[in-house]
Amino acid sequence: MRTFIVVGHKATTSPNFSLEDIPGTSGRLDILCRCINGAFVLSHGIRHDAQIYLILLGGEKPKILWLRGEDIKHLNPDERTTAALLKKALALEAGPEWTQSTPGIFVRSGGLPEMVESIKALGSNLKYLREDGTDIRGAALPDGSSFILGDHVGMAPEEESLLKETGAEIISLGLVSLHADHCIVIINNELDRREKKSVT
Ligand SMILES: C[S@@+](CC[C@H](N)C(=O)[O-])C[C@H]1O[C@@H](n2cnc3c(N)ncnc32)[C@H](O)[C@@H]1O
Repeated sequence: MRTFIVVGHKATTSPNFSLEDIPGTSGRLDILCRCINGAFVLSHGIRHDAQIYLILLGGEKPKILWLRGEDIKHLNPDERTTAALLKKALALEAGPEWTQSTPGIFVRSGGLPEMVESIKALGSNLKYLREDGTDIRGAALPDGSSFILGDHVGMAPEEESLLKETGAEIISLGLVSLHADHCIVIINNELDRREKKSVT
């Protein structure tokens, strides 16, 4: 299982955004929709061995969305359909436990500290993606690694401190700053090559 985590600093926790103008009304949920696409969508299928957590900080109370490739349904490559799935999940009451919205999509309350606690409890190896980290090509990526990325505003200093406390290794995909969804595609490709994957 490969795990991606993206922090959406402005991403809305409310379902009241417009599917006609996702970037303008949702605090850039469109970025997170593209990250979902990068995590799961293949030419002819879905990666069932991937999952993504989206930390939404653009509301009064933060929320986390969890999309699990094992059992996700109704996922299409277009952002609008994905945003509609997220809208449904955000309309549910979010407490400290996961609530399922549609197959493979869950919501709970919480932010980065809660996310980091869950990752630690799972014993997952956390990798923080940053331009000046250790080159991914020489890095050990044990099975079950989790990769955490920022959104268009990067990662705040206090978030970096939290990640540092957890002992997350800083991994780079090169010195050029890329979009988060592109980073996810590159990581998936790197893992595919290491696993010598050839079929879906
Ligand atoms: C659009 S970038 C953030 C740019 C933001 N303006 C900043 O200065 O941090 C989104 C995220 O992708 C990841 N990222 C982008 N380029 C990367 C690279 N070359 N290597 C590793 N991670 C990268 C980082 O996690 C970053 O927070």
